[in-house]
Amino acid sequence: MKAGIIGCGSIARFRHAPEYKANEHISEIVFYDRNPERAERLAAMFDGTVAGSVDDMLEDPDIKVVSDCSSNENHPIFSTQALLHGKHVLCEKPISLTVEDASKIIDAQKKSGTVLMVDHNQRFTRAHQKAREIVQSGELGKVLTFRTTFGHKGPEHWGINKSNSTWFFKKERSGFGVAGDLGIHKLDLIHYLMEDEIVKISALQGALDKVDEQGKPIEVCDNIVATMQTKKGCLGTASFSWTYYGEEDNSTILYCEKGIIKIYHHPAYQLEVIHSNGEKVHYQLEKMQTNDDQTNTGVINAFINCVQSSRKPLASGEDALISLRVVLAMLDSAETGHAITISS
Ligand SMILES: NC(=O)c1ccc[n+]([C@@H]2O[C@H](COP(=O)([O-])OP(=O)(O)OC[C@H]3O[C@@H](n4cnc5c(N)ncnc54)[C@H](O)[C@@H]3O)[C@@H](O)[C@H]2O)c1
Repeated sequence: MKAGIIGCGSIARFRHAPEYKANEHISEIVFYDRNPERAERLAAMFDGTVAGSVDDMLEDPDIKVVSDCSSNENHPIFSTQALLHGKHVLCEKPISLTVEDASKIIDAQKKSGTVLMVDHNQRFTRAHQKAREIVQSGELGKVLTFRTTFGHKGPEHWGINKSNSTWFFKKERSGFGVAGDLGIHKLDLIHYLMEDEIVKISALQGALDKVDEQGKPIEVCDNIVATMQTKKGCLGTASFSWTYYGEEDNSTILYCEKGIIKIYHHPAYQLEVIHSNGEKVHYQLEKMQTNDDQTNTGVINAFINCVQSSRKPLASGEDALISLRVVLAMLDSAETGHAITISS
């Protein structure tokens, strides 16, 4: 089958295109971007072709799977359209900017009966999967508290437009700033690791350092910190930042009744388990990919496996909606100064 990619910026270039190219079931990648030269560049790099429009792509019966790699505000348009054309869709995160739009995409999936996966790729790393296995095994007892962090030097160093005019800094297009860019990954990860849901959140945010093309502070947060409570009663903290200059931080720590699980925290080991008697067990599983060091995430292979076996994906539209609600509540709290209870 052929794969279509809508939006030919950085995530298409560094993750989706190389991973489709490496997948044995994909014969060709068809690219579309409203800036045609971006589509042409990726077509040349990955031996693919260019579609003249989204409609042309969606009318092609050989294209069975579509990645929506457009900027956040477009996901409800392209992902919905692709699903209603009977395509299997891998939508980038955040699924959308509103609950209504996310529900529209999920409804389209229900109508089409095709696969909808959302790229919450933190669920797929070996260290996170192993940590979930350890939690599920019960060997450390219940998780009591947690802390999670995701920060790097900012999307103006990552996106295809490497300047302060990037869409990531515009409220209308990115929606949530760092909260929806990096925060949503870890909020979703907490749900996955602990088979739990964040139900109450309190947050503080700021545009501390990033400026737009006029030199004014950006319209969205470049930092946000939160305290949370889960359905099972765990308490946790989170810090999400676009101003970690010098080195990324992608770490999560789960403090359990009988020990601690540290993920992407130790410089040499991706996972460290510390038992209550002080004994340490180290796991060397795989490198955490960073913006400067891209490795295969396994996301495309997982997506294609779901398409072929008609299985529900590990990160479904419904999972993405739950995480979107937490981001919306986090920003609501930061704006109102109140803790927000998340109703399901
Ligand atoms: N899963 C992850 O780890 C991860 C990492 C980075 C980005 N993302 C997500 O991927 C998406 C894309 O991010 P990016 O970093 O590639 O951004 P980018 O700016 O590098 O690329 C976005 C591309 O979409 C194109 N585009 C925008 N509007 C369009 C339209 N209406 N029609 C056609 N093309 C359009 C742009 O021209 C651009 O080439 C975002 O939703 C972002 O949140 C996910």
